Amino acid sequence: MAKTRSVHRCAACGWESAKWAGRCDGCGEWNSLVEELDVRTTASVAVGPPTSDPIRIRDVTDAGATTRPTGVGEVDRVLSGGLVDGSVTLVGGEPGIGKSTLLLQVVGSTARLGSVSLYVSGEESAGQVRARADRLGAIHDDLWLLAETSLPHILTALESIKPDVVVIDSVQTLHDPALASAPGSVAQVRECASRLVAHAKRHGTVVLLVGHVTKEGTLAGPRVLEHVVDTVLEFDGDRHHGLRLLRASKHRFGATTEVGLLQMDTDGLATVADPSGLFLADRVTGISGSAVVPTVDGNRPLLVEVQALVAQSSLSNPRRSAQGVDSGRLAMLLAVLERRCGLQVGTNDVYTLAVGGARVFDPGADTALALAIASSLSGQPLGDDVVAVGEVGLGGELRQVSHLDRRLREAARMGFRRAIVPQGTAVQVDGLQTLQAPTLRAAVALADVGGEG
Ligand code: TYD
Ligand code: MG
Repeated sequence: MAKTRSVHRCAACGWESAKWAGRCDGCGEWNSLVEELDVRTTASVAVGPPTSDPIRIRDVTDAGATTRPTGVGEVDRVLSGGLVDGSVTLVGGEPGIGKSTLLLQVVGSTARLGSVSLYVSGEESAGQVRARADRLGAIHDDLWLLAETSLPHILTALESIKPDVVVIDSVQTLHDPALASAPGSVAQVRECASRLVAHAKRHGTVVLLVGHVTKEGTLAGPRVLEHVVDTVLEFDGDRHHGLRLLRASKHRFGATTEVGLLQMDTDGLATVADPSGLFLADRVTGISGSAVVPTVDGNRPLLVEVQALVAQSSLSNPRRSAQGVDSGRLAMLLAVLERRCGLQVGTNDVYTLAVGGARVFDPGADTALALAIASSLSGQPLGDDVVAVGEVGLGGELRQVSHLDRRLREAARMGFRRAIVPQGTAVQVDGLQTLQAPTLRAAVALADVGGEG
């Protein structure tokens, strides 16, 4: 016996409500509730045998999970070595960012390394995927392809091919005919994903799920799956730049600090050999409002240019714009520049950005961002051989940051000769002079961007 009832469910967080509301009570998202038919079986369900018995923890033998390197260096870096057998990874990102490209490259590579791999495409035809695989050099005897959206057929294929690695592109196109709701609905996405998770655990298969993230919330967002899967990877970047960033926001088998940097080219995604060089490639020296910060993303040092433009405002509430930098820290830095350094920015519009689609949310970027703002205000450029690093406190003091030696070595490698650093820095790097500043005011004076003589 099946009973059909209608519920309203939030496409963003899965919150369930009996009646429609403009705003989700669960996550506060607007216009995200969609009506769904929910079929629940009321017949008594066979429970089946237990999957495991309680056991003393020291008697557990299979503690070390087998890690399968994908062979795509940046993916392995983010996954702390590779994909773990029996694990489920969700790869989220906006449509068009390159998820299909990345995962086709991943299965092409795992097949080459000897894992039977299956790519299930629910969005493109077999011919389209083949054409793309040709271009990516992903054709291999151990790479299988299935253009299918029906979950039972996919599970049948898994039983017959017995792949080591499976990609489902995308989880939103899957549907289980036993459920009345439409493909892409929260109920379908959740049910299909949990069936695949069960398969992965039972057979030790590596499952990768592609999930589109849409701002409108019309498709069930990957957020409803985050707790079901072992690993959540976020793939993003500026679509107008070739650069793509891969990060783990959840990873049951390792750290989530590493960042993968990839570049979208005509023949797929390639490793960025020299990230700092890429970020600084278009840098124009001698203009005001620009500063370079040696930052660290994960374990990798990275030089990024931050820019600021301070302009006369005609608004009673001046504009504050932060692209790729933290808007909260920008507001704080403007207040510190005003109160602790005597620089009047209050009535101006302030635009700030990290160049090249980079994102710097590292507090170590405070000093460089503040110097860029001071430089734009005074019209005096920073020296083109200077980098600046340090967290700024509310008292206007510069504070130490992590991995300073790695940051400064990268700056020296990229040809910088001077570094403005917090007072008390002991790190010495060949070819790089450290200019110690106890406060932001002192840093402004050292960089000579304060405006007075
Ligand atoms: P795609 O992987 O289809 O994105 P998603 O699966 O996240 O929706 O890639 C989308 C874009 O990537 C598309 O606009 C074309 C571009 N692209 C390249 O620039 N080079 C390539 O080799 C490939 C395969 C795609
Ligand atoms: Mg795709």
